Amino acid sequence: MSGKDFSWRRLTQQAEGLLSVSRDRISNAANLSALLYQELADVSWVGFYLLDGEILRLGPFQGKPACVSINLGKGVCGTAAVSGQAIRVADVDAFDGHIVCDADARSELVVPLFRNGQLLGVLDVDSTSLDRFTREDEEGLIAVVEVYLSSIV
Ligand code: SME
Repeated sequence: MSGKDFSWRRLTQQAEGLLSVSRDRISNAANLSALLYQELADVSWVGFYLLDGEILRLGPFQGKPACVSINLGKGVCGTAAVSGQAIRVADVDAFDGHIVCDADARSELVVPLFRNGQLLGVLDVDSTSLDRFTREDEEGLIAVVEVYLSSIV
């Protein structure tokens, strides 16, 4: 559903350039959220939840105001964080325990952030369209997350 000129390869290269100027995890999370929100079609929210003790706390994001904290194991974000796997939800209403931040969100893609085996948080992308995210989107977002993780100290 992305524009016809869209390519994850190009977006990954853009992320590499954008994130090469800083090694700060918050600055780079902020710029990456902005890049993804700008470049991905049909996306209503892009943002980070960063691990603080046992809680995922809202970090840099683009979109409407969102839930400020998520317990590990809860919602799509908390489940992805605990499982260590990306989660692609075609229909959020069908995901048991989905946390509603925006009532209009219909599908969601969450990639956990692990660095040297340590959980840092998750990157969450939402859409108001059902089944917005493909397997290619999942693989593309994982590649972009790798760029982010390599960019920070
Ligand atoms: N829906 C998410 C919560 C975060 S918001 O979508 C921004 C979840 O179930 O974890």
